[in-house]
Amino acid sequence: MKGLILSGGRGTRLRPITYTSAKQLVPVANKPILFFGIEWMRDAGITDIGIVTGDTGAEIERACGDGSRFGVNLTYIPQSAPLGLAHAVGTAQGYLQDSPFVVYLGDNLVKDGIAPLVREFERDQPNAQILLAHVKNPQEFGVAELEGDRVVRLVEKPKEPKSDLALVGVYMFDKTVWEAIASLKPSTRGEYEITDAIQSLITTGYNVRSHVIQGWWKDTGRLEDLLEANRLLLETQERSILGNVDDASQIQGRVHIGAGTQVIRSEIRGPVIIGENCHIEDAYIGPFTSIQDGAKVVASEVEHSILLEGSRVLNIGGRMEDSLLGRDVEVRRDDRKPRAYRFMLGDNSQVSVI
Ligand code: TTP
Repeated sequence: MKGLILSGGRGTRLRPITYTSAKQLVPVANKPILFFGIEWMRDAGITDIGIVTGDTGAEIERACGDGSRFGVNLTYIPQSAPLGLAHAVGTAQGYLQDSPFVVYLGDNLVKDGIAPLVREFERDQPNAQILLAHVKNPQEFGVAELEGDRVVRLVEKPKEPKSDLALVGVYMFDKTVWEAIASLKPSTRGEYEITDAIQSLITTGYNVRSHVIQGWWKDTGRLEDLLEANRLLLETQERSILGNVDDASQIQGRVHIGAGTQVIRSEIRGPVIIGENCHIEDAYIGPFTSIQDGAKVVASEVEHSILLEGSRVLNIGGRMEDSLLGRDVEVRRDDRKPRAYRFMLGDNSQVSVI
């Protein structure tokens, strides 16, 4: 078995973060989303992994290297343009050849990994196997209709869904997928859709099986989902205090504080993860917050948020919630006269003031 992780795409729903960075490298619980996918493949016994990349390919290659730090061999496969998931898979045909393979969407997270799914596929050897999850709003997903665990139809965003089983971003194929991909036409949104490729396998009479996951699964393509994934991962976080916490500070619950971090006259209520060399002073850090290395929070409150490397929240007085700050972003109160809001924001930025 080989692995394929799709890490190109446009990332329009996470702008402006995706103007400068790969969304697959945004950290949840201080670890890039993509690293979870690589580790879950490795834990399923897959060590030859191709990564399909787009405009952010160089950054992804810098972050993941040759894969030796994960115990896998990584091969980077540039996609000419983000023309859809089936196009991305087709781009990797030369790498995958006749091997059966598992495709994993680089911005997805599956709580319990993919090992049971891979074992099932290897044991039963269907032509394709998809992962499904029960969802509350099937109208917003690709939905599967089943007979037993056999998939008989896939419908993209159905108005009247026949089941609540949505397609999750993990797919397994044998070489029959190549003929299905070769015959695809672009969909109405102009993309080569993986659901169309799977539907074509079903229509031709190939064996397409399903596996319903019980644990959570998250597509982190939007800010709300990214924060929710961060919350779910922090739920399992352990307490470990490596930095310096002064006597005037209170640390409650499962909090990780990295080496070189200073916590002064502050309250931290877990689950929270704070990286290395951060500065937390006269601050409150509330549950489900991840703060990366070198960040600074002074005279401010932060909760249910993700702060990337070197970001700073200074003297804002109030509480910042449900927020994602990119690298070296600064949010601060400014007492200069005249008193006014002063912004320098990139395209597609969003600011809510009170
Ligand atoms: P999506 O999140 O469906 O698409 P996107 O990345 O273009 O984002 P948006 O809808 O916000 O514009 O992609 C799922 C994963 O697949 C993600 O890791 C990016 C990757 N991908 C590719 O590698 N190639 C592609 O052509 C597409 C569409 C996505």
